[in-house]
Amino acid sequence: MYCSVVSYPERGPYGSSSFRGNTSGFLIRDLLFWLKPKRVLDPMAGSYTTRDVCEELGIDHVCLDLRDGFDALKMDFSEEFDFVFLHPPYWNIIKYSNDPRDLSNVRTYGEFLKKLQRLLTLSMKALEKGGHLVLLIGDFRKKGVYTCMARDVKDPPKSKFIQEIIKVQHNVKSNAFKYGSGLIRIMHEHVLLWRKNNDG
Ligand SMILES: C[S@@+](CC[C@H](N)C(=O)[O-])C[C@H]1O[C@@H](n2cnc3c(N)ncnc32)[C@H](O)[C@@H]1O
Repeated sequence: MYCSVVSYPERGPYGSSSFRGNTSGFLIRDLLFWLKPKRVLDPMAGSYTTRDVCEELGIDHVCLDLRDGFDALKMDFSEEFDFVFLHPPYWNIIKYSNDPRDLSNVRTYGEFLKKLQRLLTLSMKALEKGGHLVLLIGDFRKKGVYTCMARDVKDPPKSKFIQEIIKVQHNVKSNAFKYGSGLIRIMHEHVLLWRKNNDG
């Protein structure tokens, strides 16, 4: 990972390509090569892309999802990991289940942001000092209003924001876009990276 824009046309042999909203394992692999963590947490693992990459690289990991009955908003890890990869639903753009604990079922964007902020705080708590938290998040447009989630997220406590990476999106299925509409198709996601303070 050498620059702040990344593009992975292929997703690699990780996770499941039929799972909507899965990410390329190459992104996770590059982050792990760069930051060299020893123990990884993914509390919203979806089709287990992070698990598959960690298994390939021989990195200790805990990868869980609401699909296994694990509610990330109730997680209670304390300084057990040195890398957390957080890839939440982009609010209700893709609905993952009918479970009321599912972040894709939160009624308003304001409530969603509060829960996302709580998730960032819990993820930071799960990190050892000096560990890294990565949030992969996207933008969306509804009724002509553009929402940039990266703009709405605040730094979690005891951390420094150290990097943003723009990830080019491939195979975008956006029904909010019509040719000739004058709108610009959203073809990127944000990778936000914080480091837990050493005196945190
Ligand atoms: C964008 S997907 C993650 C995709 C994953 N990175 C992959 O490559 O397959 C978001 C995931 O968050 C999960 N999720 C939603 N609310 C949750 C909660 N409260 N606790 C744990 N997982 C949750 C959904 O089940 C879904 O699998």
